[in-house]
Amino acid sequence: MIKEAMQQRYAVKQYSAQKLPEGKIQMLKDILRLSPSSVNSQPWQFVFVENQQEKEKFAAASMSSNESKIKNASCLIIFRSKTVDFFEEDMKNYLPEAAINYYKNSLKPLEKHEIQSWIDQQVYIALGVLLTSCAAENIDATPMEGIDNEAYDKLLNDTNYHTLVAATIGIADPEDSNRLSETPKQRDKVEKVIKSIK
Ligand SMILES: Cc1cc2nc3c(=O)[nH]c(=O)nc-3n(C[C@H](O)[C@H](O)[C@H](O)COP(=O)(O)O)c2cc1C
Repeated sequence: MIKEAMQQRYAVKQYSAQKLPEGKIQMLKDILRLSPSSVNSQPWQFVFVENQQEKEKFAAASMSSNESKIKNASCLIIFRSKTVDFFEEDMKNYLPEAAINYYKNSLKPLEKHEIQSWIDQQVYIALGVLLTSCAAENIDATPMEGIDNEAYDKLLNDTNYHTLVAATIGIADPEDSNRLSETPKQRDKVEKVIKSIK
């Protein structure tokens, strides 16, 4: 059940040396591609880094508390957004006219930074899809904003996209200090978070 899966998942702070089977990583690639986005804009790229030497380069370009997670996890996934200029050029290749018209009428009149923010919001939806999928499939994961986005961009060397956020996936160390038995899940009160209008 998805509710139990969401109760059981947690942000992993320490990974074991054991690696995920390749099939699980492939499944997450397939799932991320299926993420929903406004007018099916899909303004993203997901970079999967499994190579140890490459992971270590990204680890060095991350907050020190995230370094060991990236080094030990099976895979680092980098969520990248299309730049506004590239999105406008590229959308003609895969979006139907109705979607392009929606963009021209509703988004294009906005300031460039507001359009970029709309693009970035679509990419964050994919992070939610990843974390929920990992919970459902019993894959341990850590979402990560504690990265140096510009340093990641330099390493990736593709200016059509910018780095937004990352996540590691792998197998948690059984002694991970953030496991639920040591750090019970904390959430704000249901009455405050959920408002029901019937
Ligand atoms: C967008 C985002 C960025 C996060 N960045 C980091 C991070 O850089 N390092 C880290 O250890 N945890 C990070 N977290 C994990 C959160 O601290 C964690 O999800 C939150 O405290 C709730 O705990 P839980 O996920 O274990 O239920 C991030 C979570 C999200 C959603």
